[in-house]
Amino acid sequence: MDLFEYQAKQLFAKHGVPVSLGEVATSPEEALAIAERIGGVTVVKAQVKTGGRGKAGGVKVAKSPDEARAHAEQILGMDIKGHRVHRVLVDPGADIKDEYYVSYLLDRTNRRFLAMASYEGGMEIEQLAAERPDALARVPVDPLTGVDEQAARGIANAARFPDELVGPVADVLTKLWAVFTEADATLVEVNPLARVGDGSVVALDGKVTLDDNANFRHPENAEFVDVASTDPLEQKAKEKHLNYVKLDGEVGIIGNGAGLVMSTLDVVAYAGEKHGGVKPANFLDIGGGASAEVMANGLDIVLNDPSVRSVFVNVFGGITACDAVANGIVGALQMLGDEASKPLVVRLDGNNVVEGRRILTNAAHPLVTLVDTMDEAADRAAELAASGPK
Ligand SMILES: Nc1ncnc2c1ncn2[C@@H]1O[C@H](COP(=O)(O)OP(=O)(O)OP(=O)(O)O)[C@@H](O)[C@H]1O
Ligand SMILES: [Mg+2]
Repeated sequence: MDLFEYQAKQLFAKHGVPVSLGEVATSPEEALAIAERIGGVTVVKAQVKTGGRGKAGGVKVAKSPDEARAHAEQILGMDIKGHRVHRVLVDPGADIKDEYYVSYLLDRTNRRFLAMASYEGGMEIEQLAAERPDALARVPVDPLTGVDEQAARGIANAARFPDELVGPVADVLTKLWAVFTEADATLVEVNPLARVGDGSVVALDGKVTLDDNANFRHPENAEFVDVASTDPLEQKAKEKHLNYVKLDGEVGIIGNGAGLVMSTLDVVAYAGEKHGGVKPANFLDIGGGASAEVMANGLDIVLNDPSVRSVFVNVFGGITACDAVANGIVGALQMLGDEASKPLVVRLDGNNVVEGRRILTNAAHPLVTLVDTMDEAADRAAELAASGPK
């Protein structure tokens, strides 16, 4: 889960990282009131979970509260790379002398954490990494030892910060390491970390990605969930404890086991090439115990996706045998009644497959086609999606 800038900086502040942090407004009037409270120069910043806000016109300096209100009026409702702006952060304006970059992230390839830092800010980090790789220090962090004062100084030195900045930057780095580990983050990034008028360094921006798998350790993360920008089907799936990810295509996918569902996405995308380029509409893993209720919940979500034109149910019976799954599908279709209105292609294999197929054949549901192999089923589902009503 990604955090908004204001949430990231609130988290930084809790760990003692120096930040420039104002308040969040959802209307121009609120922005005006906040700017009046702060006094002097403020910066109005779009709160969206995407990069390049400044370039898109979503970060604006205001010399007066009235100007802050005008900027908020302009920025609220803006679309930045498909993200609608519902809130702005009104921050105290910083007197910037220099801009730097620091981050920690999970480096999956090397099974390590990675610290990155640069003395040369003011450039997008992707561009810096591509064009001036030597200006971006990359220092592996051993998860068992972490980042103490000495390691932090090592990172600051590797990034060639001048002597007088090594101390303050190392201090920020040790505190950010505490944020990274205590919040169970996979990314903590500050761009820019700025040196301001009084010589201190301050985080002017913050990006944090939390590891959702650690949510059980962080009941406080519930407040970060942003229902407004969560896909409604994904939200509903989450409430039903289903592993669902919305994709762009037309063939709804239901399978048991993440590996099987992933390969189902592949075969459907491949088969779709022959049928006008139809693609999988979602990832949905209903897990091991495919009871009628779980199957009904899964079908309910997939069938309620308006872009779905056919559904491919691909189940390999293991501990839950195929007859139980078949009964699940029949029961689910009964439960859904008229709501089930799109063709279903079912491929069953594995434990007790003969009985499973017999149950589905006997049920003779008009929407269900039973196909023996995964490839043939993918082809049939893609064909139905391509030829069905749009
Ligand atoms: N509080 C502030 N005071 C003065 N200038 C600021 C302040 N916050 C941001 N800025 C200036 O605006 C620039 C862009 O701000 P910021 O980094 O927050 O957004 P961004 O980089 O465009 O967005 P993103 O990080 O999502 O790509 C900063 O590099 C800095 O020069
Ligand atoms: Mg930034």
